[in-house]
Amino acid sequence: MKFFIDTAVLDEIREAADMGVLDGVTTNPSLMKKVGVKDFHGHIATICDIVPGPVSAEVTATDVDGILSEGRELAQIADNVVVKVPLILDGIKAIKQFSEEGIQTNCTLCFSPTQALVAAKAGATYISPFIGRLDDISSNGMDLIRQIVHIYATYGYTTEVLAASIRHPMHVVESAEAGADVGTMPLDVIKKLIQHPLTDIGLKKFLDDWKALQGADASTAGGDGAANGKAKQEA
Ligand code: E4P
Repeated sequence: MKFFIDTAVLDEIREAADMGVLDGVTTNPSLMKKVGVKDFHGHIATICDIVPGPVSAEVTATDVDGILSEGRELAQIADNVVVKVPLILDGIKAIKQFSEEGIQTNCTLCFSPTQALVAAKAGATYISPFIGRLDDISSNGMDLIRQIVHIYATYGYTTEVLAASIRHPMHVVESAEAGADVGTMPLDVIKKLIQHPLTDIGLKKFLDDWKALQGADASTAGGDGAANGKAKQEA
C-alpha cells in the first residue's frame, strides 16, 4: 500500500518524507487556503522537489475547457504532477482527454461506486473515494472502498484506488485490508501508525535493564561482573 500525505504544509511534507515511507502528496484548495498559499504553481513546484512521487494539484475550473487548460498548465510544473479533477460530468470529459494526452489524473470527490466506475472508464489514474466524509453523514466509507476495489478487479481497470479523507489509523487498516492501492492521510495519522503503548513500555524496560547491567558491571572489578566471578569460582 502506498502512503500519500494529505497536506500543503511544507514542513509536514518534509517530516513525512524524512521517515522514508512517503510515496506521494495530495493537496486541495482547502488545504492551500489553510497555508495561505499565494503562488499556487510555485508551491506545487516546491512540493514536487521535496517528494519525487505523485503530487496531486487540484483544478478549480468546472467546465471542460477550463479544466483542460488549468490541468495542462499544472502538468507542465513537474513530471510528477497529477492533475486532480472533480467527479462531475465536465471533469469526466476532461479526464478522458487528459488520459489520451498522457497526463496523470486523480478523480476527486468520489462518493459512490457508479462514479468510480465512470472515472475508471474515462481513464483516471487514481480514484479518490472520501471515506471520512461518508462516515460523517452516517454512511459507511469503507463499504465504498470495498465495492470499488471489487469492481475494478472484476473488470481489470488499472485506475488506482486512493482512499482519501482518512481520519484515523483504523481507516488505514481497513483500507489496506480492502486492497486500496493508496491511502492519503494527514501527518498525525501517519505518525499514529507506528505508535503502540506496549512498544513504549517494552523499550523502557529494555533500556532500564541495560542501564542497570552497566551499573552492575561498573561496580564489579574485572569487567564481566558477578556472572564472570561465579564462573571463575565454579571452575
Ligand atoms: C485528498 O485528496 C482529499 O482532498 C482529502 O483527503 C479530503 O479530506 P477531508 O475530508 O479531511 O477534507
